[in-house]
Amino acid sequence: MPHATRRSYLMCRPTYFTVEYAINPWMDTGRPVDTARAVAQWERLRDVYLDLGHEVQLIDPLPGLPDMVYAANGATVEDGIAYSARFTYAQRRPEGPAYLKWLADHGFVTHDAARTNEGEGDLLRVGDVVLAGYGFRTDRAAHAEAAHLWDREVVGLELVDPRFYHLDTALTVLAGSDGSSPADVAYYPPAFSPAAREILRDRFPDALLASDDDAAVLGLNAVSDGAHVVHTPAATGFADALRERGYEPVGVDTSELLLGGGGAKCCTLELRSMR
Ligand code: ARG
Repeated sequence: MPHATRRSYLMCRPTYFTVEYAINPWMDTGRPVDTARAVAQWERLRDVYLDLGHEVQLIDPLPGLPDMVYAANGATVEDGIAYSARFTYAQRRPEGPAYLKWLADHGFVTHDAARTNEGEGDLLRVGDVVLAGYGFRTDRAAHAEAAHLWDREVVGLELVDPRFYHLDTALTVLAGSDGSSPADVAYYPPAFSPAAREILRDRFPDALLASDDDAAVLGLNAVSDGAHVVHTPAATGFADALRERGYEPVGVDTSELLLGGGGAKCCTLELRSMR
């Protein structure tokens, strides 16, 4: 039976959120963004986490960094050790040091990455291992660097569809993301190379496979505490499938933040403490 554990999340208010450059297929610089609406949706997301009993800490947004709201990309924190992000695109590069400084100031051991990686966007813990996306944003060499840093197995998964440019857009860790319960994941097979699909089939034979419709609304960009799964209400088939498996889907509208190519998970960095 799924059970929840209390989580600690880091979030960044989208005060300066706009779409002024396009670095993924969801972004369209010609489309106006309602920043106030993005802030309201983000506040609702934060309130949902607080209502579920989780801790939410905040990093100050910086002007000129419109994507800083996507906290999941800011770093990856396992076992109290933060591995910094090193962004592919110049527009986001200053976010890496900003998040790393926050983490150092808040008592985490920090490691400044030598290799290109976009944080928890591509590095997702499940059970004892870390699943790691590559193909669009994160360098395979970063997988080795992270494995060495945490002394954990890091399993590379190649992403092949530009709409699903980060692992967290194509795969949700439903259980086991803090290592406390048996691993359970949901994913969208067409986002992965044949070799990656085989690895996923092997490791997670009972995984929930998402439909085209649920993937197309970024339904898999979801946050699970082991029992409640926070995701876009547009992913209706995903919600039904979750309920069938005993999870409780919690719909939170992040449609304005989707204009930048992100949903609930993108806005949420999990801070995992010492093992
Ligand atoms: N505009 C951002 C980018 O393309 C969105 C990042 C979404 N974050 C995520 N964890 N998938 O970099």
